[in-house]
Amino acid sequence: MAYDAKPLPFTLRRIGNISEKALEIHHDKLYQGYVNKKNEIEEKLKTVDRATGNNVTYSDFRSLKLEETFAANGVYLHEDYFSVLGGEGQSMAANSGELGEAITAEFGSLDAWVADFKACGMSARGWAVLAYDTNDGRLHNYIGDMHNQGGVWGAIPVIVLDVYEHAYFIDYGSDRKSYLEDYMNNLDWKMANEVYLKVRNLSF
Ligand SMILES: [Fe+2]
Repeated sequence: MAYDAKPLPFTLRRIGNISEKALEIHHDKLYQGYVNKKNEIEEKLKTVDRATGNNVTYSDFRSLKLEETFAANGVYLHEDYFSVLGGEGQSMAANSGELGEAITAEFGSLDAWVADFKACGMSARGWAVLAYDTNDGRLHNYIGDMHNQGGVWGAIPVIVLDVYEHAYFIDYGSDRKSYLEDYMNNLDWKMANEVYLKVRNLSF
């Protein structure tokens, strides 16, 4: 069954200095493009020749399997990114709830987490992710240079930050630091806490 793109989870508007136009392109063109490719790849996998697929250098099957994870993670990470972006300056201390308590327990303080998360955002070529890792039952800041690199299986994204250049170059040029400021100031902490409450008791 084809995957349906999810609408932007907040009213399209300027967020900090992230322009309405940049958000619209990011959601309607780039995100929609990942959804389309995810569906296209899954369709092609139904009929691709598996008999010639046993080659680690190149085969149609190998290429489809590699890009299957790139497209799928491109879809899911963008959905998680958009879902926490519309917070309109919510106070972290007042709105982060149980997630804030867990962040404080893991990182020492909310401010220490912010510093670490921003450092991740400045260091990654694709994504910075606060994830609840069901393997060890702890929160971690992970980074990835591509959609299908850097993720830890069993770790569930709670707060996702897109640092691909397409996320900020239109509005900020090379000033990624200011983009990170605006992102942090517009985090939807209530949404992030809802995700955390859903996943915090999972362990395998
Ligand atoms: Fe993106």
